[in-house]
Amino acid sequence: MMHVLVVGSGVAGMTAALESLDAGHDVTLVTKSGLAESNTRYAQGGVAVVMTSEDSVASHVQDTLVAGAGLSDEDTVEVLVSEGPDAVRELIDRGVAFDQHDGVLAHGLEAAHSHARILHAGGDATGAGIAYALIDRLRESAATVLENTTVVDLVVEPVEANLSTRSRVVGVRLLDGTELTADAIVLATGGAGQLFPYTTNPEVATADGLAMALRAGVVAADLEFYQFHPTSLAAPGNFLISEAVRGEGAVLIDIDGRRFMTDVHPDAELAPRDVVARGIAAQMARQHGAPVRLDATALGSEFLAKRFPNIDAACRAQGFDWGTTPIPVTPAAHYYMGGIRTDAWGRTSLPGLFAVGEAACNGLHGANRLASNSLLEGAVYGTRVVEVLDQPWEAFPSDADWSAPESVDLGDATDDGRSFTRDELQQLMWDAAGLSRDGETLAKAAAVLAAWSTPDVTDAKSAEDANLLVVARAVVASALARRESRGGHFRTDFPETDPAQARHSGVVAR
Ligand code: SIN
Repeated sequence: MMHVLVVGSGVAGMTAALESLDAGHDVTLVTKSGLAESNTRYAQGGVAVVMTSEDSVASHVQDTLVAGAGLSDEDTVEVLVSEGPDAVRELIDRGVAFDQHDGVLAHGLEAAHSHARILHAGGDATGAGIAYALIDRLRESAATVLENTTVVDLVVEPVEANLSTRSRVVGVRLLDGTELTADAIVLATGGAGQLFPYTTNPEVATADGLAMALRAGVVAADLEFYQFHPTSLAAPGNFLISEAVRGEGAVLIDIDGRRFMTDVHPDAELAPRDVVARGIAAQMARQHGAPVRLDATALGSEFLAKRFPNIDAACRAQGFDWGTTPIPVTPAAHYYMGGIRTDAWGRTSLPGLFAVGEAACNGLHGANRLASNSLLEGAVYGTRVVEVLDQPWEAFPSDADWSAPESVDLGDATDDGRSFTRDELQQLMWDAAGLSRDGETLAKAAAVLAAWSTPDVTDAKSAEDANLLVVARAVVASALARRESRGGHFRTDFPETDPAQARHSGVVAR
């Protein structure tokens, strides 16, 4: 019997664990907090899936490719879209109660989707609906679940083979120094929102899997591409105010009550996410940093409470009555397109190591993710990866299978570097590698990051800080290297898209 170790408990990790059990493997799932604490649990937007005869795989593929701004891998997108319906049926079998209309699944329309194909659960609490159903299945399963358990690094060994210098992963090291061994390790550690001071992500989103992979010499890709959501509540916690609110007709206004997105893009509030986010940031700069306002009052309190119960409760908990008064909103880091490079099966460049969900970069999202594709990604790739868990090391891609990754020094520049606080790191990243970047600011940030010393890992917080530092260095190096603007990566010094740079970037630690 194979022993499979899954790190992370979002939809991708829990699906991989449950599918591995179904395949007859022995499974351990490790998560650094409680099982429910993941980006999945907080996702409001739904699951995009082709399940009606009016819709088609070709249409969903096309919408995803358009959002990806020339960088999505078409084969990977095809896999997502064509395997999506089965993955959703499996979620339903596992107890996810998607919203229905007249006894059939309700399919909503969202910006940038050309058909109504978005499933929701509990209105605006889709991620929670998925997370809690999968948690129930996992708790009643034979899997060993280790909560509040921090993995700090991968344990890697050389592979004994003719003329080969490859290594393979054989386990993980925990904060207390113990090692857990496994035949296959699936990293499903989620996103990196905590690189920035304003994020819709929970506190656990500290890029742990990506950092571990980088330290182990695994190839990562597209690290310059981060998606910033235009509208988070400008209040502690940056609660996500779903795009669906603008989809229902809410408008963005400046401090004088004037609609400003109509000056920026013909689609105004429903322009592509990065355009709206930068439009808001520019308006905030014009009003000396004051947040803009989202005016949903025309929708009425009753409708808002029924359609968006989760957001309604969050607004009220922070003292905002959005049915009668426009609420302050600001862009916030939301989704990481970059991550650990994988093929369309979740295999990384390190034999025995797999990555799925937001921690991975399988080329699906390209330079910008289409809304509501990520929960589907977790379900599809969390399922698919299980088909290849038992493959020999020769089956894994080598660095050469992807465009030659740039080798970047991600270690400390000096032995006597200075310590840093998380607040300092987040502010530096927001200023240098946030919604708009430029070469000079990025180069200065790279020098500051290099001069900081990696903290000694003595507890969970210092382990996260060490991870954020290595990933911040990799993000800044990648953002410096891409001298164009594309999708989530906007350079004020190279504002145009350069067709010659329509390729994935790659990073490997030197
Ligand atoms: C939203 O509801 O605006 C976010 C959905 C998503 O990011 O997929």
